[in-house]
Amino acid sequence: MKIGIEKIGFYTPHLYVDMNKLAVKRNVEPEKFTIGIGQEKMAIPPITQDSVTLAANAAFEIVDEKDKEAIDLCIFGTESGIDHSKSAGIYVHHLLGLNPHARAIEVKQACYGATAAIQMAKGHIALNPTKKVLVLGSDIARYGLNTSGEATQGAGAVALVISADPKILELEEQSAYLTSDIMDFWRPVYSDKAFVDGKYSNEQYILFFSKIWEAYKEKTGLELKDLEAICFHLPYTKMGLKALRTILDEGTEEDKERLLENYKISTTYNRNVGNIYTGSLYLSLLSLLEQKGDLKEGSRIGLFSYGSGAVGEFFTGILQPNYREYLRVDQHAELFSSRTEVTVEEYEKVFQETLPTDGSTIEFDIDKDPAKICLSGMTDNMRQYVNKMN
Ligand code: CAA
Repeated sequence: MKIGIEKIGFYTPHLYVDMNKLAVKRNVEPEKFTIGIGQEKMAIPPITQDSVTLAANAAFEIVDEKDKEAIDLCIFGTESGIDHSKSAGIYVHHLLGLNPHARAIEVKQACYGATAAIQMAKGHIALNPTKKVLVLGSDIARYGLNTSGEATQGAGAVALVISADPKILELEEQSAYLTSDIMDFWRPVYSDKAFVDGKYSNEQYILFFSKIWEAYKEKTGLELKDLEAICFHLPYTKMGLKALRTILDEGTEEDKERLLENYKISTTYNRNVGNIYTGSLYLSLLSLLEQKGDLKEGSRIGLFSYGSGAVGEFFTGILQPNYREYLRVDQHAELFSSRTEVTVEEYEKVFQETLPTDGSTIEFDIDKDPAKICLSGMTDNMRQYVNKMN
């Protein structure tokens, strides 16, 4: 039985800041952000978007009535959850009108959450081949104004329908993974911003990649020549490149050229969104599939997932016949082209807006947010959500 990705949805908020302009305001050379870090635009979530609405918007574009009947499990991967107790999956379950007899849960392991969800989904489909799983990877990356992590912020979500009819990518069985208790990046429950040991996190990312890649090769006997492309978790687009470069000498000149070219294409969306933590790897996959017109059916794509703290995994998928018919290239082009640029001052203002924590009521003007699904306010410590399409 084949199991894999049947559909991919994506959402990012309608506001962004230009990294060249952010660099000028932060007194650094723009090339540091655009070349050294490798980011062009950074998505800015308005107060009317949180990890729930981002995920719901990403899923809303792909989940149809037939999916709603078949989805009996919704797994929400996030590290910017809104509640220590209730899962974000339940809010999305409601906002999409999923089958009441579906399970909805949240999983967490930094940027690895969506990968964990996909692996769980594979097991679920193996036992229940007529069912589907909705996997969500949704986050808002926040380090703080004027911090070294600031240039690697972002916001967005990816939604995946995993089923035994993988119209886009069949996920292969073998994968290699690694866990190690390290403090490279973390967010204590009392903080709305991440703490990070930046240089150490970069080193650990690469160390995880090299150990896992060795384990993967040993397990499967596959080599660089067997991979058409490798997509990476992209906290910023230079990071994956640094990891890729460490293994390129294992291949021929042709392998190098192919992998570098495909890597570049796989960073197109991430470069214009920023880090979306657990969805980043899948945004990179989407970028590769939608932006590279001539990827051959049957090609094998490698996927490297890394979640600080840390867990990493390398696995692969095979592109399916006519996969391009199931992509949403035009909708995503429209999503990007309809965004509004904000000034650095406007971004700083939006960044500092907060929700009440004393139980008071607040209502937002959701007409200012073009998203279909928005956070409309708070009352009695409860977030209020609206699906404008209902
Ligand atoms: N032109 C071109 N390049 C320039 C430049 C210029 N004028 N000025 C500087 N650069 C280059 C630097 O040489 C450097 O390149 P290399 O890394 O290839 O050497 C790059 O720009 C960045 O410069 P710095 O290292 O000086 O930047 P920094 O210390 O200010 O911050 C960072 C970089 C550590 C990544 C920081 O942004 C950060 O902490 N980000 C958050 C943590 C993170 O993303 N870690 C990644 C691994 S962890 C992970 O993957 C999980 C996750 O999602 C968080």
